[in-house]
Amino acid sequence: MKALTWHGKADIRCESVPDPKIEDGRDAIIKVTACAICGSDLHIYGGIIPGMEHGDVLGHESMGEVVEVGSQNSKLKVGDRVVVPFTISCGECFFCTRGYFSACERTNPDRDKASKLWGNAPGGLFGYSHLLGGYAGGQAEYLRVPYADVGPIKVPEGLTDEQVLFLSDIFPTGYMAAEFCDIQPGDTIAVWGCGPVGQMAIRSAFLLGAERVIAIDTVPERLALARAGGAMTLDFAEEDIYDRIMELTGKRGADACIDAVGTEADATASADSMVDRVKTALFMGTDRPHVLRQAIHCCRNFGTVSIVGVYGGFLDKVPMGSAINRGLRFRMAQTPVQRYLPMLLDRIQKGEIDPSFVITHKASLEEGPDLYKTFRDKHDGCIKVVLKP
Ligand SMILES: NC(=O)c1ccc[n+]([C@@H]2O[C@H](COP(=O)([O-])OP(=O)(O)OC[C@H]3O[C@@H](n4cnc5c(N)ncnc54)[C@H](O)[C@@H]3O)[C@@H](O)[C@H]2O)c1
Ligand SMILES: [Zn+2]
Ligand SMILES: [Zn+2]
Repeated sequence: MKALTWHGKADIRCESVPDPKIEDGRDAIIKVTACAICGSDLHIYGGIIPGMEHGDVLGHESMGEVVEVGSQNSKLKVGDRVVVPFTISCGECFFCTRGYFSACERTNPDRDKASKLWGNAPGGLFGYSHLLGGYAGGQAEYLRVPYADVGPIKVPEGLTDEQVLFLSDIFPTGYMAAEFCDIQPGDTIAVWGCGPVGQMAIRSAFLLGAERVIAIDTVPERLALARAGGAMTLDFAEEDIYDRIMELTGKRGADACIDAVGTEADATASADSMVDRVKTALFMGTDRPHVLRQAIHCCRNFGTVSIVGVYGGFLDKVPMGSAINRGLRFRMAQTPVQRYLPMLLDRIQKGEIDPSFVITHKASLEEGPDLYKTFRDKHDGCIKVVLKP
């Protein structure tokens, strides 16, 4: 089959790889009808995710038609149309039974490696390195789904691929980011990053009752899409974000701040980020937490900092003094996707939201490598790429 494979920094190829096979009774094989490129894939493309190997198949936002089912899988049958969460979860362990599906204790065969870096290990993810299971991803014609009796959700008649595909990741992730904020009537929520995840967070914050959302980015079409979702916007290249948020909130700060940017924050506007860039380039640091620092400073006393932008290792100069003295609450996670699926599918079916609003590019798998670059560089108005294998 054809798949998008990793060969090093900024080197992604569409090439032939062996078809996946059933390896366990609970598996299913999916013929992928749509898959997407995520901001998390850009960290791999940028060469900053450790544990990638030549030829690894990428992709963790996929859906399709079931073409083969393992002997012990009684939930799925051939012909079912399903969306596959990016988190691989057994459904039975300590964490899965508590709803923390992204921390599944059984699905990450690289537990020891991950524990060395992080003190303990999260669960396995599709297409996301040999720290997180080394599973082949779904930017491919076919995908093997382990524990397919737990993760995939069946798509009801009448919904298009585009409407439901983002249940695999960015819709639950943006929703979780807003849910972490414990939104109360009258709240102002500030969202850093108007990429696909930030866009979902903005719309979810309104679904959960936010009075006002302040969205921050610098890319004009992304800011425009945030405004179309009801947010007011700030351009970090033109305005001092801290000053503006203080001005807009009577000097109190935002009730909650969402970091939907993560480790590759733009450096142009700030000295701290330039230092991060130099340090990461010299392998003296792992991340560039400029947005996290700013989000902490812009959060009101006893407010919430909600982090869904991904970080990899050890973060420098995070203002913990500010956080503890002012009583901030931190929430963060790789999204336990399965936990959100029935409720979010219901919201799509009721017409409360149509997540396809972020899609700007649809193409074939062969065009995938070029579109990684287009998405990274934010060329051609690119906000979200969907590939149709
Ligand atoms: N926690 C999870 O489970 C989960 C799931 C999906 C994605 N993510 C992470 O969410 C993040 C966003 O993903 P995406 O798909 O939207 O990616 P993206 O790269 O398209 O979006 C990031 C946006 O941040 C903006 N940005 C950069 N520097 C900024 C700054 N200083 N201030 C404000 N905005 C700034 C960029 O212009 C861009 O629009 C990534 O780190 C990704 O890895 C996490
Ligand atoms: Zn993702
Ligand atoms: Zn589990």
